[in-house]
Amino acid sequence: MSDALFPRPRAVVAPGAVHVPGWLSPERQRELVAACREWARGPVPIRHTVLPGGGVMSVQTVCIGWHWQPYRYTRTADDVNGRPVAPFPDWLAALGRAAVADAYGDPAAGGRYSPDTALINFYDGDARMGMHQDKDERSGAPVVSLSIGDSCLFRFGNTEDRGRPYTDVELASGDLFVFGGASRFAFHGVPKVLPGTGDPTTTGLAGGRLNLTLRETGLKEGRVSNADRRAADR
Ligand code: SIN
Ligand code: MN
Repeated sequence: MSDALFPRPRAVVAPGAVHVPGWLSPERQRELVAACREWARGPVPIRHTVLPGGGVMSVQTVCIGWHWQPYRYTRTADDVNGRPVAPFPDWLAALGRAAVADAYGDPAAGGRYSPDTALINFYDGDARMGMHQDKDERSGAPVVSLSIGDSCLFRFGNTEDRGRPYTDVELASGDLFVFGGASRFAFHGVPKVLPGTGDPTTTGLAGGRLNLTLRETGLKEGRVSNADRRAADR
């Protein structure tokens, strides 16, 4: 929220990586929470993603537009219930364009942005996300991250590996974080959520942290995986 005790200024964390505190109005946060609640019910229910090695992610995830499972996008949620995911709505694409335009102070960059998938992550108090790159997309377009509910520690690193140098940023309810350009493939993660820091009356979220990442997959219709891509490249 923008009524923090101390002002939290917009910050360029790394080239192409911009944090804009309090970007979402309280009303917009509530609308997003309501929309995410619906998407969490179906057609593909929110679930803990199972990793190929058998590990289970502590966050719960539901996807719209395209379904992400490690490490590919498909139209149907083959690792959940096989159903097509909910469509990616035009209003969310418009929000993504506004986010890019505002973060970069560049309306043309916003106009070019055409996100077609969102990963919606819900973190309860114990959930975390390890350092990783968003690299299953075939597009270098920015990732737009919107946070609602409890604050978290967001770690934004470098493009080489999971280690230092990195910058720790507190993402609070309503904050926007955009990473594109030279930072598009930077490692990032969420080492911890700060339980009880959200404001349920503002957001409609009783507890926990909601994060939406909007992305351009660069994919066309049909089922395309990294394995398909590698086969096509041979
Ligand atoms: C993600 O990297 O997919 C999510 C990041 C976040 O929850 O802030
Ligand atoms: Mn990510």
